Amino acid sequence: MALTTKQHARQEAGKEFDFTRADFERVRGLIYQRAGISLADSKQEMVYSRLARRLRATGIASFATYLDSLEGNRMPGEWESFVNALTTNLTSFFREAHHFPLLAEHVLKAKRQHGTPLTIWCSASSTGEEPYSIAMTLCEAFNTLTPPATIVATDIDTNVLATASAGVYPQERVEKLEPERLRRFFLKGKGAQEGLVRVRPELRQLITFRQLNLLSDDWPVRGPFDAIFCRNVMIYFDKATQRKILSRFVPLMKPDALLFAGHSENFLYVSDALRLRGKTVYELS
Ligand SMILES: C[S@@+](CC[C@H](N)C(=O)[O-])C[C@H]1O[C@@H](n2cnc3c(N)ncnc32)[C@H](O)[C@@H]1O
Repeated sequence: MALTTKQHARQEAGKEFDFTRADFERVRGLIYQRAGISLADSKQEMVYSRLARRLRATGIASFATYLDSLEGNRMPGEWESFVNALTTNLTSFFREAHHFPLLAEHVLKAKRQHGTPLTIWCSASSTGEEPYSIAMTLCEAFNTLTPPATIVATDIDTNVLATASAGVYPQERVEKLEPERLRRFFLKGKGAQEGLVRVRPELRQLITFRQLNLLSDDWPVRGPFDAIFCRNVMIYFDKATQRKILSRFVPLMKPDALLFAGHSENFLYVSDALRLRGKTVYELS
């Protein structure tokens, strides 16, 4: 069968589907509305490759039709898949490692001063490496697998939450952990599970995983928290969105709580309620 001019152009560009600037602008508007994520112009290729998978999965032949069906709510569950496809979930155990000794010091002091169980919110937990690193830090600080603490770990992306909740990782993900941590906090897979590790049940039990969109008016978490981790997610939001989210964190923080940010995030410009306590760590001012 002869190819149309459009099909020729796509083939030459190595593309399976047409993806116009207008399609990109539509995606950009929708993900901003839904998740607060601001996509730069440079993300056009990324958007194409991630959503092309959704077109294949739904059997839809063009971006325009896919976006029409999405906006018309004609594909049950597709909004969730659309958001999941467009989030970036890069993370690792003890990422930005300087935060964890500070957390350990803080929780010991908070426990001494208040006596009540500690509560920590990890607000963009991705596949779980961050909340499990928080849990390991608490176990080490209190020298027990059952520290007096609870962690709530949330993310907008339901796929990463499922991975986090399972707590099973390929061996490579834990290769850089100290052998003592590996031994104390993970179980090695055998047989069909060879090459995988599972976090110990005691560690898993410290954490409740829940879906939460930082943009939504309704946050299913209850403070006040001793610490909030909000690392490497604000970079996807514009300043107005960041300011709104930070203003909602403030009343959820105990008077001496800490707020942990990512290495390239600066909350001083967006909230006068916070002051710097250490490298990318904030406290109430
Ligand atoms: C780059 S990861 C950072 C993970 C972890 N905090 C870290 O620093 O290693 C960003 C996470 O933010 C989540 N995210 C993006 N938009 C969000 C939103 N509106 N509400 C909650 N989480 C969101 C993504 O799904 C992703 O898992």
